[in-house]
Amino acid sequence: MEVGRLINYSPERYLACMKALRAAYGNDQINRDPAYCQSFGAKLPDSTLCEPGTDVRVLGIGSGSGDVDSALLKKLLQRHNSVYNRVVEPSEEMIELYKTGVSEDTSLGAVKFDWRQQTAEEYFQTKHPKDTKFHLIHAIHVLYHVDDLHATLRDMWEQLADGGYMLIAIKSGNDAGAKLWYKLWEEFGQGDRLETSLRTSDDVKHWLDAKGISYVTSDEDGFAFNVNISECFNEESEEGRKILDFLTQTPHVSSMPEIRSMALEHLRRIIRLWLMGRFFTKENSKLL
Ligand SMILES: C[S@@+](CC[C@H](N)C(=O)[O-])C[C@H]1O[C@@H](n2cnc3c(N)ncnc32)[C@H](O)[C@@H]1O
Repeated sequence: MEVGRLINYSPERYLACMKALRAAYGNDQINRDPAYCQSFGAKLPDSTLCEPGTDVRVLGIGSGSGDVDSALLKKLLQRHNSVYNRVVEPSEEMIELYKTGVSEDTSLGAVKFDWRQQTAEEYFQTKHPKDTKFHLIHAIHVLYHVDDLHATLRDMWEQLADGGYMLIAIKSGNDAGAKLWYKLWEEFGQGDRLETSLRTSDDVKHWLDAKGISYVTSDEDGFAFNVNISECFNEESEEGRKILDFLTQTPHVSSMPEIRSMALEHLRRIIRLWLMGRFFTKENSKLL
């Protein structure tokens, strides 16, 4: 059973499903909502991260098409003259989109890019000089997909400079999508949930707590629900099938009637609650 293992089943199917979801947000790979991307920049500290006159060193894990990364870099350039940015991203297609975006954006001229077309696992397995340290290491909605969540968190932590910051975005354990994952796992999961993509902020917090690392959290991802999922309810719709695969991180959910009906029932319940105004207050939400 492939529950929670969409990317392991097929990275190509995963990318196609991710694109279908982005289209349902009304965005594509290039035109993501700027406010969404900038909301990550707002999470960076306002203080300077390194000595004046030296490069801020940034490590991006799973940067995708780079639109969130670019917003982070622009925020850093408000305080720093130059940035060294190492990009670790396995998908050639995503890296090409990122490079195109950079070449068209003159405001990123002071950034030195170091492209690594690799998974996080491949990157961290490579021997790095002991003093390879970064002032900011970020992983924005990617820790679902690394082989070993704890090992990747440890590797990221070890490459952090003294006083540096790690910025992690991952589905909140409190949000409705995570509740769907937990239920899916409870009913249909096999093995260890942490070996699948069904990971949430609860799992990251457990690791940080166990290591005694202090952190701040923010649960304000109101953008997550600004998405039209009505196609999921249309059995004939290939786009709907892909979106459902992405929401459940499970390949070909529509060919598994029990899982499909559980997932759709859960989505219907979210919508009912939303309509009752219990979960969502965003006026322009388009969840149908
Ligand atoms: C949901 S996207 C997020 C992209 C980007 N961080 C953003 O927020 O727009 C997840 C990204 O992680 C990449 N990815 C998948 N498995 C990975 C791995 N093992 N190591 C690093 N990146 C990975 C995918 O290619 C994809 O670009």
